[in-house]
Amino acid sequence: MGRLDARIAVVTGGASGIGRATVERFLAEGATVESWDIAASPAVPLPAEVVYRQIDVTDEDTVKAGFAAVVEANGRVDCVVHAAGIASGGPVNMLETAEWDRVININLKGTFLVDKYAAIAMLEQEPLFGVDGAQRGSIVNLASVEGLIGTEGGSAYNASKGGVVILTKNLAIDYGRRGIRVNAICPGFIDTPLLSGVFGMPGMEEVMKDIASSHQLGRLGRAEEIASVALFLCSDDASFVTGVALPVDGGYTAGHRHGISELLGLA
Ligand SMILES: NC(=O)c1ccc[n+]([C@@H]2O[C@H](COP(=O)([O-])OP(=O)(O)OC[C@H]3O[C@@H](n4cnc5c(N)ncnc54)[C@H](O)[C@@H]3O)[C@@H](O)[C@H]2O)c1
Repeated sequence: MGRLDARIAVVTGGASGIGRATVERFLAEGATVESWDIAASPAVPLPAEVVYRQIDVTDEDTVKAGFAAVVEANGRVDCVVHAAGIASGGPVNMLETAEWDRVININLKGTFLVDKYAAIAMLEQEPLFGVDGAQRGSIVNLASVEGLIGTEGGSAYNASKGGVVILTKNLAIDYGRRGIRVNAICPGFIDTPLLSGVFGMPGMEEVMKDIASSHQLGRLGRAEEIASVALFLCSDDASFVTGVALPVDGGYTAGHRHGISELLGLA
């Protein structure tokens, strides 16, 4: 028996990285899964059971039509994991205003649109799941540790993810009594194409090492480690969890080290 048997799930950003790992994990846990992404097709083909749709999360008509199609095909939508996003930014004195707009548009407005049509679809369906059968749906937004704390040059990305965190909490308040749980995952630095796109270029090796060692577990995270938390949040195990911005960050936001562990032989 899977933890998402009979659930209908939509995963945005489902062609790559965290979204893709979530698609595969949800499928393994018994869900019917749709993978949405702006890419025409995933670089590596998805399992045949997965319905793939090319959807730009900034395009309202397409997002609306996507949810209508899921409901038409399956009668309902139980889980939405919104992982579509981009990384970009820079210190504001160096950041083109158009780039600020692009990041906010994809990461924050995209979240608004996906959550908006997910909520509309969920509000219209009967509650079926949850420990007392009172759950209409679960929405999980991918924010970031960079939506909780600042990082060098984070500006637009961090602002967009901070927006995702507070938007998530507002949705949890607005829809809690209607049986819709809404949570955000705040990953640390996860080894995906998004991360290598920013830090993979020559000259960034030391920065990358420092980032990895800033996680108290001493390493980057893996996409599967975020997918397993998305699974928890969409499952009945999380039936009393809503409005949370959950760091899944190997201790990145736990605090700072100053070399004392090394002096004590702990590191
Ligand atoms: N990788 C990390 O270190 C990290 C850390 C914290 C948060 N996150 C967040 O997790 C999410 C997934 O990131 P990832 O690392 O898997 O990245 P990724 O680049 O591997 O995957 C992101 C996917 O989103 C898709 N996408 C981009 N713009 C889109 C749009 N307008 N419409 C639809 N799809 C679009 C891309 O095509 C890509 O397939 C993002 O929101 C990211 O900000 C990632």
